[in-house]
Amino acid sequence: MGCGQGITANVVAAANPRANVHAVDFHLAHIASARAMAKAADLGNVTFHERSFEDLVDGAGPELPAFDYITLHGVYSWVGPETRRAIVRFLDRALKPGGVAYVSYNSLSAWAPLLPLQRLLQEYARNAAGNSVEAVRQGMEFAEALQAAGAVTLGGPELLRRVRNPGPLDENKHWAYLAHEYLNAHWQPLLHADVARDMAAAALTYAGAAHIFQNEPTLTLSAAQRALLAGIADPTARETFADYCGQEGHRCDVFARDARPLSPQRRDAKLRDLGLAQIAPIALPFTIQAVDGPVVLEERVYGPILAALAEAPRRVGDLLDLPAVLESGQAPSPRDLVLCLTGLGVALPVIGGLDGGILPSVQRFNRAQSAAAMADGRAVAFLASSVGGAGLTASAAEAMLHHGLQTGAPMEPALLVDHYLGPFQVMAFANNPAELDAEAQRRFALTSAIDHAQRVTLPVWRRLGMV
Ligand SMILES: C[S@@+](CC[C@H](N)C(=O)[O-])C[C@H]1O[C@@H](n2cnc3c(N)ncnc32)[C@H](O)[C@@H]1O
Repeated sequence: MGCGQGITANVVAAANPRANVHAVDFHLAHIASARAMAKAADLGNVTFHERSFEDLVDGAGPELPAFDYITLHGVYSWVGPETRRAIVRFLDRALKPGGVAYVSYNSLSAWAPLLPLQRLLQEYARNAAGNSVEAVRQGMEFAEALQAAGAVTLGGPELLRRVRNPGPLDENKHWAYLAHEYLNAHWQPLLHADVARDMAAAALTYAGAAHIFQNEPTLTLSAAQRALLAGIADPTARETFADYCGQEGHRCDVFARDARPLSPQRRDAKLRDLGLAQIAPIALPFTIQAVDGPVVLEERVYGPILAALAEAPRRVGDLLDLPAVLESGQAPSPRDLVLCLTGLGVALPVIGGLDGGILPSVQRFNRAQSAAAMADGRAVAFLASSVGGAGLTASAAEAMLHHGLQTGAPMEPALLVDHYLGPFQVMAFANNPAELDAEAQRRFALTSAIDHAQRVTLPVWRRLGMV
């Protein structure tokens, strides 16, 4: 719901050819580009509906089947109460028994200190000249001046500096983000308790956080916080109060219909059967910074596990039964192994077959993606995986490598760069040493990134049946 440009829906359809995917958004241009992406890869199992959520429950929408999974990312706290009610009604009606809903939203406990500033920017924008980006920029300058003149309820200078700081984004993109986030008339950060109550109306109960580390209190809470929260019997209240201890601003919650909790023994038995596929390297020993101190993944335990995963996807049970792991005397529980490796983004959980080979739908989709990335000069491409039902993003250099592999381009990194950019012609820059330097640096960075992708990313693609 609210599929935007349909990237996830398309990746999921390509990576799960037996799934039947429907994606809804009322934004015409988004749906058009989502359909074009599906068409380019000849995906027959995804349908995009240019509809509102209200249409889906008012009888104006298409006939849809019942769903095993319904997901909404970046939607629920950006729409008004009427729309949230339509979403809940749709979940109530359309999710199968045993189905799972994913709902992400801005968490009120983390965003509350920003509310006075957000409302000021919104009110200021009503009378500001220019577009919304100009309006938020002017509003921010006014807020800073007001704050410097002693406005006490705006939040301290540190808070305003944090809002202004573009982080990894470039300045213009950051202002566009601020306009998008802060000037939205329906912007409504929510407590977990608010969302859990809404979901209860659709017979859904909270199952856990999609960001797997958020489910592990020993990582996210101090011993003192855990002790206090242990005295709260109601799980919804406990989860809500835990948010007051951390800084997590965007909750990604998973709710289930008719969830049947497993005993730890049954859960671990099931997890032993889960597959893991390595998607990123990690240097050992590796330290996870928990609130109360570091948790270290030791070489003698995780070294053999990662070495086995570097060869091929494996079952968790087989990893834990490796002789070197058993001999270490420190084998983690199935739960802790899955938690650490998936939580760190080192491995992808895999349900079902672990064998290699590329699905025809994945091959078509990835070909179309890398070709589009090259044609449009995009900085990022999205590639589907034949293992694990998911996908990975690819940088511009990785898209170039992927496209080069499909089209038989030379694989030596410098030659591959020449193949796409044309050979480096010093004469073309004869009158401008600065441009010459910039072009040389661009090529050097791209060549190094391709070299890295060949050594690190390509083995991952091969293990996951992505190329
Ligand atoms: C912030 S975007 C998130 C897009 C995408 N899920 C993502 O994570 O990139 C919210 C999307 O919800 C869609 N949307 C908002 N209200 C809607 C409604 N009432 N009916 C259908 N789509 C809606 C918007 O058009 C937009 O594409």
